[in-house]
Amino acid sequence: MTLLARNLGPYTTTAVGLGEMPLTIEGKPDLEQAIETIHAALDAGCRHIDTAWAYYESGGEEQTGEKLVHQALQSWSGPRQDVLVATKVGHFRNFTDGRPTWDVDGSPENLIRRGKESAKALGVDSIDLLYFHRPDPKVPYEQSIEAMKQLVDEGVAKTIGISNASVDQIDIALGILGDDLVSVQNQYSPVFRESEDTLAYTAEKGLAFVCWSPLGGFRKAKDDTVFEVFRQVARQHGVSYQQVVLAWELSKGRHVFVIPGAHRPATILDSLQAGELELTIDELAKLG
Ligand SMILES: NC(=O)c1ccc[n+]([C@@H]2O[C@H](COP(=O)([O-])OP(=O)(O)OC[C@H]3O[C@@H](n4cnc5c(N)ncnc54)[C@H](OP(=O)(O)O)[C@@H]3O)[C@@H](O)[C@H]2O)c1
Repeated sequence: MTLLARNLGPYTTTAVGLGEMPLTIEGKPDLEQAIETIHAALDAGCRHIDTAWAYYESGGEEQTGEKLVHQALQSWSGPRQDVLVATKVGHFRNFTDGRPTWDVDGSPENLIRRGKESAKALGVDSIDLLYFHRPDPKVPYEQSIEAMKQLVDEGVAKTIGISNASVDQIDIALGILGDDLVSVQNQYSPVFRESEDTLAYTAEKGLAFVCWSPLGGFRKAKDDTVFEVFRQVARQHGVSYQQVVLAWELSKGRHVFVIPGAHRPATILDSLQAGELELTIDELAKLG
């Protein structure tokens, strides 16, 4: 199967990628199933995997997500060099009062150290696409972005992305990184449309827009009724409503990518077909 491909910075990759997070944080499957899920995606033609330094269980060994991606690629017999592997630095996990949480450290020292650790865990000299995971309110944004630039200058990363970024932060990053900035990864789905301003702005600036939690996240949505209209369209096409959600997101612009998460092969195999699903103008109008 040839999947829909789009340009992301200097890369041509599949519009539907695999979000690795559910395979290594709380609720993860066993290692065998995790590897099977990644291999199933790759065998079906997926060429974009998204991971992060901070994808590990709270209180557990760090960087298990990056190590899993490395292990899965090493044991895969296909063309590894064609797979765009994106990772992120700036987040870490906390385990306070038995509750797993996410914390940020956007200091230049931390970003540079973690970027180098990410390259090592992924088993590469230079990371294809390295994101600054989330702005740190304790550190001026410029300082964090300067550190990301240093990682490109030192060859640790080939290109840079920013995540959870506003329009103003995109402008700051463009000013410092210029053409090295290729992608913005923000939350976007039927249950989270607040990032529509950055979706439009990235198109204007020639940047990719990667939707995180494109299906609303792997925890049950607070308001599931927003998916009802997607279910109606899905019934007409005889496909899952998740495929309709992903196809609707991809219809927002040729610069848009989706990285659905999966705990098992079946769900990512279904999601990967979304790029081929054609929605009519009337259906898109109905979906909003
Ligand atoms: N930059 C950031 O700050 C940030 C934050 C969060 C996430 N992310 C990235 O975004 C990725 C995706 O987000 P996410 O994993 O939170 O949520 P998601 O992609 O919105 O949802 C994943 C859930 O949807 C289910 N699913 C996926 N495809 C399906 C299909 N075709 N049919 C039925 N169910 C389907 C999966 O089911 P199963 O569990 O049954 O497989 C999984 O539980 C993450 O893996 C991560 O790489 C980035």
